[in-house]
Amino acid sequence: MIKQAIIPLAGLGTRLLPLTSVFAKELLPINGKPGIEYILDECVQAGIKEIIFIISDKKKMIKNYFYNDRFYKRIIKKKKDQRIIQEYNKIKKFRKMIKFVYQNKPLGTGDAVLKTKRYIKDNFFLMLLPDDLIINKNCSKSMINVHKKYKSSVIAGMNVKKKDVSRWGIFRLSKKINKNNYLIKDVIEKPSMKYAPSNKAVIGRYILPKKIFVRLSKLKPGKGGEIHITDAIQSLINQNEPFIAHNFFGKYLDCGSMNGYIKSNLEISKI
Ligand code: G1P
Repeated sequence: MIKQAIIPLAGLGTRLLPLTSVFAKELLPINGKPGIEYILDECVQAGIKEIIFIISDKKKMIKNYFYNDRFYKRIIKKKKDQRIIQEYNKIKKFRKMIKFVYQNKPLGTGDAVLKTKRYIKDNFFLMLLPDDLIINKNCSKSMINVHKKYKSSVIAGMNVKKKDVSRWGIFRLSKKINKNNYLIKDVIEKPSMKYAPSNKAVIGRYILPKKIFVRLSKLKPGKGGEIHITDAIQSLINQNEPFIAHNFFGKYLDCGSMNGYIKSNLEISKI
């Protein structure tokens, strides 16, 4: 069973400036609720019991959001407002599940994953990238079901426009398992259109094996001088570790860019 999830949250959010100059992007509201709470809801509904947040000193605000007891207690004592009491209870419930680790240098998603190494107990764990919201269907839950069936790593995949491939990790398929699940032959981080093996993009949900830590610790910085999870995955595939691309059903919303963030608010307000 997949019981632990990790969420890299140390990113600076430059694509959302000026909103992120003094504010953590994951706490920005999407239709009245902080983006990170959609991700936490997805985890809880998928049966996750422990969540590791990878933050940085600059993103301490995220920890404060979950540990503002004195403030809540004072307000609740004064106001006895049911809505505030409920919100506070929800935050306390989430907090029980969350551990914090730190990534103070922006060395990439792979480096963020490496920071969680000593906390991962089982052979597989889930990673969610908070810029990627998936609504209408719980993508993590579907992926956990695929994992249960095939006992292998799973990545969420989606077709993107050929002209946009350089924004994503792009993978090529090898064998079809069934209608929505395929084995991955190779994966490359943000290729140019010329070198992209397909238009199939990695979306921010991964079920990864514990073995990935060994690969990550041996990796040299890749594209943009960062340690990429994509490169560690490729290295495992080279050693015959199966990775399944799961064609997910929900609707993908990109909350990490200004246009995407605005669109996400509109889309979520419709449901
Ligand atoms: C990361 C991954 C990339 C993946 C993307 C999904 O990129 O490195 O492979 O396709 O998330 O959102 P980032 O969004 O951090 O640039």
